[in-house]
Amino acid sequence: MTPFCNNYNIINVDYVLGEVIFIRTLEQRILAEGRVLPGEVLKVGSFLNQQIDTRLIKEMGEEIARLFACNNVTKVLTIESSGIAIAYAAAEAMGLPVVFAKKHSTSNLSGNVLTSKVFSYTHQQTYDIFVSADYITSDDTVLIVDDFLAKGNALIGLIEIVGKAGAKLAGCAIAIEKGFQGGGDSLRAKGIRVESLAIIDKMTDDSLEFRPQ
Ligand code: G4P
Repeated sequence: MTPFCNNYNIINVDYVLGEVIFIRTLEQRILAEGRVLPGEVLKVGSFLNQQIDTRLIKEMGEEIARLFACNNVTKVLTIESSGIAIAYAAAEAMGLPVVFAKKHSTSNLSGNVLTSKVFSYTHQQTYDIFVSADYITSDDTVLIVDDFLAKGNALIGLIEIVGKAGAKLAGCAIAIEKGFQGGGDSLRAKGIRVESLAIIDKMTDDSLEFRPQ
């Protein structure tokens, strides 16, 4: 069956089936390997945040590429460090470059630099992020990709960078959204497309509840 585009997804039966199987696989990995740490932090270092399961990340990237296949994306944007792997996988699947925002100004950031301030709820501190204006321009349509979405502050900072560049925003794609922290839904309420491969709506020390998708 030939896929066709609507506003959001490529629709065909194989795709829908594949997406459901993939989301279940990711949820099972989170249930099997995730550990809840104090401060509403979900540790998934065994496959996403420190050790990277390359096959799973590749599949996540392919899923994100399918979700945004109809959006004429020209650049994938993320923030260092844990976002880079999944952003790379998505960009590779789309045949696009990936750009990452740096959290420190470095000597190889020269010329015009786009900046924004991000308040980290997890770390309770504000930091600046930097992207060279050479790499995101008004010709671009940008897909923002990150590993986690909590309060949404990192995404808001990246969205601001896209705006400062005069680029278009296709939307945001996330591996794991902590739905109970509200960041994703408040961005959706503003009309921004946010696609999360797994959304956790409830999290206790010994149980997780996923949002049906
Ligand atoms: P927000 O952007 O959604 O508001 O979240 P926040 O500032 O609190 O997130 C700060 C950092 O913590 C980010 O990484 C984010 O990816 C990560 N993070 C947030 N919640 C969780 C969680 O429950 N589990 C894990 N594993 N990570 C979480 P960072 O500090 O910038 O570090 P890194 O990207 O260099 O790893």
